[in-house]
Amino acid sequence: MGKETILVVDDERLLRWSLKQKLMSWGYRVIEAEDGATTLSRIVIDTPDLITLDIRLPDTSGIALLSELKSKNPNIPIIMITAYGTIDDAVRCLKTGAYDFIEKPINFDKLQNLVKNALETSRLRSAMHSNVQYVKTRFGFENIIGNSSLMTNAVDLVRKVTLSEATTVLIQGETGTGKDLIARAMHYESRRDAEPFLTINCAAIPETLIETELFGHEKGAFTDARILKKGIFELADRGSVFLDEISEMQLNMQSKLLRVLEDQTFRRVGGTKDLSVDVRIVAASNRNLEEWVAAGKFRADLYYRLAVITIHLPTLRERAGDIPPLITHFIKHYNAKFKKNIHGVTRSAEKLLTEYPWPGNVRELKNVIERAMILQDQEYIDAEHLPIRIAEPQLSPLFLARPSGADASLGGAKTGLSLFDIEKQLIEQALNTAGGNKTKAAKLLGISRDTLRYRVKKYGLNSLQSK
Ligand SMILES: Nc1ncnc2c1ncn2[C@@H]1O[C@H](COP(=O)(O)OP(=O)(O)OP(=O)(O)O)[C@@H](O)[C@H]1O
Ligand SMILES: [Mg+2]
Repeated sequence: MGKETILVVDDERLLRWSLKQKLMSWGYRVIEAEDGATTLSRIVIDTPDLITLDIRLPDTSGIALLSELKSKNPNIPIIMITAYGTIDDAVRCLKTGAYDFIEKPINFDKLQNLVKNALETSRLRSAMHSNVQYVKTRFGFENIIGNSSLMTNAVDLVRKVTLSEATTVLIQGETGTGKDLIARAMHYESRRDAEPFLTINCAAIPETLIETELFGHEKGAFTDARILKKGIFELADRGSVFLDEISEMQLNMQSKLLRVLEDQTFRRVGGTKDLSVDVRIVAASNRNLEEWVAAGKFRADLYYRLAVITIHLPTLRERAGDIPPLITHFIKHYNAKFKKNIHGVTRSAEKLLTEYPWPGNVRELKNVIERAMILQDQEYIDAEHLPIRIAEPQLSPLFLARPSGADASLGGAKTGLSLFDIEKQLIEQALNTAGGNKTKAAKLLGISRDTLRYRVKKYGLNSLQSK
């Protein structure tokens, strides 16, 4: 680290000189200014890390200059030098944003401490700031890839909601469509970015623990509650809480959650006091919550409260045009991670990747690219580096379920094919391709040999294998 620069502003030459000598002897670099005008031009050319500012200057008052400096660059700490006994001035300085003040005649030990502390505080603050910047580039909007209209519409809505004061958001979408990604971006792109983003997965936490996780408990609330524990809502005050897999929350917890959503208050378990917080609650579900309401598994009132702002994330097969840019994005990601230099995918691999129906959505695509990049070292990922379900789709049950035209998802029904027929055909095909070798055929289908044997029997295909 280079020397830190301190700007000394004082109209008395002698005082400037003695301050400069001291500061230099403590290891700082010193620049000087004798009045307000020089100060303002100096900080443009040579931004100091700290300023000592005399409260009385020839062309302006120190306080006026202080407030001007603060408005130009609020991050530079300023120590005011005041005349002895002018406490009113000193207080006004602090209110205007000075770090601290020191009286004339200057006690240099005290000054040395002040300078050290002020610089340390501002270093910490800027480290924290760059931390937030760093998180932002990892979790910001620019990492959400997709030019399809379905995706850009969704992201437009996300951006609007992020900047709004909305405190409840519901994200719906199949597994792997980016619900986590969006929830994080919404937090780190909002004014809440410096506050916590806390996540709870409602499916992963036992019913008995979820209440204390969310709301905390008082000391002595139950046998094991030896100390007070703050819950997620309290810890995330002014930040965001991400409630993942909300559909799995038990009905009685759902009603407690509704209360938080309605008036942003709750009680710790065993508590008698209402606590109020300012949190944005983002809930996510890969199930259709409306259906869960109809089935009596989800409270209708909670659903309607959550659904005021709903973001629907499209599946990857609905937006196949986004597949090539996603591939590029993930190749770049894994090139950096694995220190490789893969240029892209071949035309035939791209065709296979765009035609595959992606039941696991973007996560599945990401995993496929990762696997291909681990397995090979050529410049381009080719069909042979892809899993068999993608490389040889005609062997996959997903192939026939795939919507390849406007209403092709009904293709099977239209041609009068039942699932039974489809499965039978697939097994026949696989056995033929494998030349009757059941182990090989099972591998092609991605099922176990036992399963295959069972199906062969079920469909009466036994004659085939002897061929
Ligand atoms: N539009 C996108 N652009 C770039 N990466 C994406 C996109 N959507 C998803 N991903 C990536 O795909 C992976 C899965 O996404 P994410 O975890 O957000 O899915 P999810 O909807 O939360 O899934 P689940 O319902 O299974 O929890 C993550 O690594 C994420 O970064
Ligand atoms: Mg998720």
